[in-house]
Amino acid sequence: MSRISRVFAISDLHVDYIDNMQWLNNLSRTAYRDDVLIVAGDISDDPVRLRSTFEILAKLFARIFFVPGNHDVWIRRKECDDSLEKFRLLRSLCKALNVRMEPERVVTGPDPDNAVWVVPLYSWYVTGEEGEGTLYVPRTDGDADLGMWRDRYHVHWPALDGGVHIADHFIALNEDRVNRDYDAPVISFSHFLPRQDIMFADKGASTVKAKSSFNFSSVAGHTKIEAQIRKLDSRVHIYGHQHRNRQRLIGGILYVSHCLGYPQERRENRIGGIGDTPIRVWPLPAA
Ligand SMILES: [Fe+2]
Repeated sequence: MSRISRVFAISDLHVDYIDNMQWLNNLSRTAYRDDVLIVAGDISDDPVRLRSTFEILAKLFARIFFVPGNHDVWIRRKECDDSLEKFRLLRSLCKALNVRMEPERVVTGPDPDNAVWVVPLYSWYVTGEEGEGTLYVPRTDGDADLGMWRDRYHVHWPALDGGVHIADHFIALNEDRVNRDYDAPVISFSHFLPRQDIMFADKGASTVKAKSSFNFSSVAGHTKIEAQIRKLDSRVHIYGHQHRNRQRLIGGILYVSHCLGYPQERRENRIGGIGDTPIRVWPLPAA
């Protein structure tokens, strides 16, 4: 158990970009010393940069939580044989650096009964072609083209026993933490999206407008993440991946996306409201 004041969140730091590393280095050295930071995936595919990012954050925050995103499990340097081995390597790295990938109760203030649980959820996406559990939404002008999706070239999953899909493999890894009891409000987080409706700026969109040849919805997430969030009865769920920042209260759960994303996306105002800091998610911001 650790004693914490507040919980903050960020995702998609993508520190391979100099501007993003600069953003990180500009964070206050003193403001967050008693606080938690949740990092919901996509720091870097380079384990050396990943390590240095955690070392920077460890000097700023009292506790750091993390789950890998798709970029973190890319294989580009022969550091691992496949992306599942890379995932295990990241778990070992996090353990060595005291970065949490397991649920932990954090006391938020002087009263020990005033606490929250931070619950990391591992995840992957199911594409439109793969079917059940996908968040895929058809385009108005035809089917998706994933030719430019770089995971196709840099992510390598091994064949799993029984033909289990990698998305289901990660869901299964969460089962113990989803099916236990928690004695305080739960804040969960995943890299990938748990539901379709948070993907769209306007609620209830049923088709994707054809702005490019790429249909993000096909690689957005997995409906089983949402089932696990509901089982957890989370008060807040943090997610990343889309590089579109939103806050939506749906069925009593506040879904928050606060991504740094790519410098070009910020220059073009495509992400929305990132500002200079991670976002506070606990205590809950006033409505
Ligand atoms: Fe990302």
